[in-house]
Amino acid sequence: MAKILVTGAAGFIGSHTTDLLLASGHRVVGVDNFRTGRRENLTAALSTPGFALHELDVALPGALSALAAAERPAAIIHLAALVSVQESLANPAENFALNVQATHLVAEAARLAGVGRVVFASSSAVYGDTNVRPIPETTETRPLSPYGAAKLASESLLLGHGASFGFTVRCHRYFNVYGPRQDPTSPYSGVISIFARRFAAGQPVTIHGDGGQTRDFIAVGDVARANLIAATRPDLRPGVANICTGRATSLLDLAQACARHFPGGPPPVHAPARSGDIRHSLGDPARAAAELGFTADTEVAAGLAELLGGVPAALVP
Ligand SMILES: NC(=O)c1ccc[n+]([C@@H]2O[C@H](COP(=O)([O-])OP(=O)(O)OC[C@H]3O[C@@H](n4cnc5c(N)ncnc54)[C@H](O)[C@@H]3O)[C@@H](O)[C@H]2O)c1
Repeated sequence: MAKILVTGAAGFIGSHTTDLLLASGHRVVGVDNFRTGRRENLTAALSTPGFALHELDVALPGALSALAAAERPAAIIHLAALVSVQESLANPAENFALNVQATHLVAEAARLAGVGRVVFASSSAVYGDTNVRPIPETTETRPLSPYGAAKLASESLLLGHGASFGFTVRCHRYFNVYGPRQDPTSPYSGVISIFARRFAAGQPVTIHGDGGQTRDFIAVGDVARANLIAATRPDLRPGVANICTGRATSLLDLAQACARHFPGGPPPVHAPARSGDIRHSLGDPARAAAELGFTADTEVAAGLAELLGGVPAALVP
């Protein structure tokens, strides 16, 4: 069993990844500065003997290197980041510090501590707005935000470091991740957590445009499993892969599925389309299947049921 260092461990994806690693018998060194993460997300982990939590800023030069040198983990899963496109537009300098400079420091920590593998949380935002459907990794990358650009730069930084200094880097381009512990109070949260919160509160959801926009929604449990595989499976080659389902769900379908869990709630409010909204985003999952042996199992209806409680309601009537 391995020791894995997880940055952003108190966050949405980080805490699920930590829980899965611990349940699989691995030891976890969790790192977080609670910028957006919450200690409550780690309630189960904190009572598990194989877990240690370090409050530390990954963007502070030397901090992660010192911890990695002391702990000597087999792998680092780097999830800590400024996580929103909107915030990166409002504050590009902070985006650079937390999403580029911090990644460089992770690469250096891996080099200096002789870590064998780094798994990085990249994003479908590296593709920008493309007409390609589904999107394979060979699609031209054209990020449309400082956030997407930083994710792409980070992939290169890590892959270059790994090739130079002998560690394996796996970059995961996550599509739209959803599930328990996603912060529904954040204005930047994913649409599923916003819909779930509003339905539960008896408030109408707002659908911009005709609701025909589609997304590739992937359950956080599946993402945690992809992280576990990439960090622990022997003999992986370095590379980049989409972490997605390959299944498209429209916002209207999503609203209808939520409505089945909350019968009698108010109907959606329709608002004008937002400029810059991407119409369709669908990943091609073939490379992750071939290179990692990873397939996302959870259908949106089942993932939604887990989030909202109750039985799965079919997406299509
Ligand atoms: N949620 C999604 O749909 C999605 C999609 C694509 C990519 N990602 C990426 O996945 C990763 C995890 O995202 P999430 O949705 O779990 O967000 P999150 O905000 O819940 O988690 C990020 C965690 O990193 C911590 N953090 C931020 N800066 C830090 C720093 N300098 N030092 C230490 N800790 C720091 C935060 O406190 C938080 O706990 C991020 O890199 C994000 O860009 C997420």
